[in-house]
Amino acid sequence: MSSASSPLAKIALGARPVAARLERTPHLILGPFYPVAAPSRFGSEMWSGKPGSPAGPSRVRISGRVLDTDGEPIQGALVEVWQADQHGRYRHPDTQTAQPSDSRFAGSAVQATDGSGSYCFWTLKPGAYRNGPVCRAPHLHFQVTSRHYRLVTQMFFPGEPLNDRDRWYQGSRSPALLVARIARKTPRMLALTWDIVLAAPHDRSHAGGIQ
Ligand SMILES: [Fe+2]
Repeated sequence: MSSASSPLAKIALGARPVAARLERTPHLILGPFYPVAAPSRFGSEMWSGKPGSPAGPSRVRISGRVLDTDGEPIQGALVEVWQADQHGRYRHPDTQTAQPSDSRFAGSAVQATDGSGSYCFWTLKPGAYRNGPVCRAPHLHFQVTSRHYRLVTQMFFPGEPLNDRDRWYQGSRSPALLVARIARKTPRMLALTWDIVLAAPHDRSHAGGIQ
């Protein structure tokens, strides 16, 4: 064994111990309300109302990074988001709630991660909704596509009592990884952080690119 390939040499060269790797964000179903036309609204804003209006809904900012399991940021990953509005209504012809729709709410958006793997969306907190007999806790749907992988998943809100009644959340292999954390909270704004972890390019256990 040469000195450069010995275990001690790898530690000295900064090789990442296996135990330090990040856990992949769990897959969750696409759901029935993926926009009929795929999200095409490039940008971070999903609501066109007047910011700060006392009569308007409180705002939610969701930001984070797309990383691989080695902790490396993934630049240029396409991050698609779609969700129900504050009344639990999707902008989709099959949405099942009788609540009125909010015409100021786009319902979906897409952007590419920057050089640090970061993304950021401004939106509203989605309402809970029923889909047939199923009660869904407030959540956002994400589809993240990198050069190597595509992940479909959902993000949930911290401290949300309905999480414990959501069968998809409860059925996940790691529900805690689907919950964002609070970065800042005011009476009119909730800032959340949620990192999304894809398999590393050298990980061959996800043939086909869907994890
Ligand atoms: Fe949904």
